[in-house]
Amino acid sequence: MSAENKTSRLGSVYQAESSEDVARVYDAWAEKYDEDMSLAGYRHPAISLALLCRHAPKGAAPLLDAGAGTGLIGEWLAITGFAHVEALDISAGMLSVAGRKGIYKALHQAALGTKLPFADNRFAAIISAGVFTSGHVGVEGLDDLLRVCAPGGIVVLTVKDVLWQSGFRARIEALEAGGVCALIDDTGPYVSMPGEEGTTPSRCIALRVA
Ligand SMILES: C[S@@+](CC[C@H](N)C(=O)[O-])C[C@H]1O[C@@H](n2cnc3c(N)ncnc32)[C@H](O)[C@@H]1O
Repeated sequence: MSAENKTSRLGSVYQAESSEDVARVYDAWAEKYDEDMSLAGYRHPAISLALLCRHAPKGAAPLLDAGAGTGLIGEWLAITGFAHVEALDISAGMLSVAGRKGIYKALHQAALGTKLPFADNRFAAIISAGVFTSGHVGVEGLDDLLRVCAPGGIVVLTVKDVLWQSGFRARIEALEAGGVCALIDDTGPYVSMPGEEGTTPSRCIALRVA
């Protein structure tokens, strides 16, 4: 894909007005996504894996990759000691690429921001990279992720800084005050795609569920 097409795909997804639009853009992008993100110097997978390994016990299972896409993170999870990982994504096309890699124990097509198809406390840890960002999922996706993570479990999320400043940080402070979770790590702002002009900062955080 030319640089121009890649930029227009990212632009379409950032401006998407519904989850169906987001799924359509990613369905069409799935086969070229890994190559494009590699060219953009995409850093969220490495940074979120670093936080997960810092805070979750090796082998914690089952683990959920929420908004797993094509499985860029799943490819590294087995190497870092997490053998039972399940993928969730809204895009069937992205999940299909992830499935071909043979790294996930289960693939779930579902939308963050709605009630997830899992029992309370189902996962020992959750990782979500590149999902809480413009045009994707906002703070409304947070509470149900915490519901499906077991007490003591770790939730690692990247969050676009503009979302962090406009409600995400406040929601986490409220959840902390309510005894639901604790913010245990925060990278502060960094640029997730240094090769993509105009990328605004994100951060990666870790929460421990009470
Ligand atoms: C930038 S990609 C990140 C994929 C993968 N985590 C990675 O780091 O390569 C964003 C992913 O979030 C998914 N997504 C967007 N909105 C979603 C939603 N409401 N629920 C679940 N997945 C969603 C997209 O389909 C896409 O696969």
